[in-house]
Amino acid sequence: MSSGQSGGKGGTAKSGGKPAGARDMRVKVKKAGKLKHSSQLWLERQLNDPYVKRAREMGYRSRAAFKLEEMDDRYKFLKSGQRLIDLGCAPGGWCQIAAKRIGLEQGKGHIVGIDLLAVDPIPGVDLIQLDFMADEAPALLTERLGGRADGVMSDMAANTTGHKKTDHLKIIALAEAAVEFAHSILAPGGFFLAKLFQGGDSAELLTMLKRDFTTVRNVKPAASRADSSELYVLATGYRRAAREQQAERPES
Ligand SMILES: C[S@@+](CC[C@H](N)C(=O)[O-])C[C@H]1O[C@@H](n2cnc3c(N)ncnc32)[C@H](O)[C@@H]1O
Repeated sequence: MSSGQSGGKGGTAKSGGKPAGARDMRVKVKKAGKLKHSSQLWLERQLNDPYVKRAREMGYRSRAAFKLEEMDDRYKFLKSGQRLIDLGCAPGGWCQIAAKRIGLEQGKGHIVGIDLLAVDPIPGVDLIQLDFMADEAPALLTERLGGRADGVMSDMAANTTGHKKTDHLKIIALAEAAVEFAHSILAPGGFFLAKLFQGGDSAELLTMLKRDFTTVRNVKPAASRADSSELYVLATGYRRAAREQQAERPES
């Protein structure tokens, strides 16, 4: 994920020497020492990924930055002066893009980011190192933003266990917690953007979003690897009043 992660995993990288087609230009990683096959594949993919290279050239902290950039180019949900929450923000690629687009360096808007991992400072961004699932996290985020948010973005991804069903439950739990938090903090008209996975049981989540937002879209940005089942849901036009009426309705 991070642009700075290529190399240093024990493998030796060498370029295919033939000056023929692009296929031959791929960097191959020779198996060396204790390097696991999965690590070897990961390293090879990083070294050959044009987004990783571009992220490094442009000073972005992650290739994920291009996903947000591309989704916003298409749907224009980031606007000058917005107040945003970034859940699972490390190493900070989304914060960098959002900061540019809301004009943070010109003193406009506010971003509060949270991650389990420490994030190197990003000018103007308020960073919290904490598990978003911790009881105190929602209140802390709300306090640091100091009011309602115009957008809640979540690129959170739990570490995978390899057990498909368990992994999927973890992903949905994170997304549901993010939606719940969005309800508590979004201003009317606000947006919600979160990572989901294709083929998963996210029907209930999508139904909830469709009830409370004007428009709900599934988005697969080109920067999201084609072989990954990663998918984003973008919900815009938060209808706060509708949500509150729903909450006040007595159970039948
Ligand atoms: C794909 S990365 C985010 C990349 C980021 N959007 C960027 O552009 O740099 C997913 C992040 O979610 C974080 N994460 C996963 N579960 C979390 C949780 N419960 N609380 C906070 N962060 C979490 C991980 O630590 C990881 O840094």
